[in-house]
Amino acid sequence: MVDRVNLDGGVASDVAIVRDERGREIVVKQALPKLKVAADWRCDPARSSQEVEALRIAPTFLGGEVVPRVLWVDAANHRFAMERIDASLRNWQAQLSAGEVNLMTAARIGELLARLQTESARDSSLATTFGTREYFELLRIQPFFVRAAERNPEAREPIDRIIELLRAPGRVLVHGDYSPKNILARDAQVVILDWEVVHWGEPRFDIAFCLSHLLLTGWRRGSSKSSYYAACHAFTGGYAKRGPVASHDTVLARVIGALVLARLDGDSPVNFLDELDVEEVRKRALRLLLEPAPAWLELFDRLLY
Ligand SMILES: Nc1ncnc2c1ncn2[C@@H]1O[C@H](COP(=O)(O)OP(=O)(O)OP(=O)(O)O)[C@@H](O)[C@H]1O
Ligand SMILES: [Mg+2]
Repeated sequence: MVDRVNLDGGVASDVAIVRDERGREIVVKQALPKLKVAADWRCDPARSSQEVEALRIAPTFLGGEVVPRVLWVDAANHRFAMERIDASLRNWQAQLSAGEVNLMTAARIGELLARLQTESARDSSLATTFGTREYFELLRIQPFFVRAAERNPEAREPIDRIIELLRAPGRVLVHGDYSPKNILARDAQVVILDWEVVHWGEPRFDIAFCLSHLLLTGWRRGSSKSSYYAACHAFTGGYAKRGPVASHDTVLARVIGALVLARLDGDSPVNFLDELDVEEVRKRALRLLLEPAPAWLELFDRLLY
């Protein structure tokens, strides 16, 4: 093979497969100061060291198979190398976009998130190690929530309350980008990538981030809605076995509403906007924010059909 193959998909970093001196394929990731999106979106590339820290700690909670092993770190250049995950595990977003909705994967992802949250909640030292919210503020709160509120003034108040919740003292380790595009999977075998927005924070964020993505994918024109509905339930079922957020929680529905809105109107819209009935999806998101919120288990019945 050639010495370097760039991996598609990343907007926050340059990610490439390279061959090391032993001829082994490894993945080298370098955080970028300016993200590859239309908006002028900048964030200190020193966040790379938070990702390395998370990749080293996560196996304690999730087991060694669930994150790639870090091989070397070049902190001065905000770069690190990790093992290349076997190509038989495929990007879950790519699978979902191709209409392949594996419920074992969805359930496992829910279960792993619950495990990350319950296990990390027991380790108070993580509140210090991952105490900085600077990257979460710049990469999530501002471009998603603040922007969505600016562009939908009628929803400003409920979104402001969510922002307060996300800025409040943390409870668990939050991945910060728990989305299908950062998951490699083959059935129930799952690897979680891209920990650069990791922080000590609010557990509802990761649940809502993943579910809002599944919902948006389900609303794409031509999607088979029932399979995405089943995926939401499988994720929730996996999570509910041991997760710290109760299934009757209603705040979560609002966080999901705000994130759906942000993926339409924020600085990081989904890359399939042209395949959505944007007006209709916006209406559904606003309803979640402005009307009495349902328990998140009832949400899918209300939203997907
Ligand atoms: N260790 C790995 N083994 C195999 N593939 C990988 C590995 N790390 C990353 N990839 C692939 O490269 C893509 C981009 O990597 P990553 O998500 O870490 O970059 P990013 O620029 O931070 O992405 P984002 O746009 O989500 O911010 C992943 O979605 C995945 O498909
Ligand atoms: Mg990514």
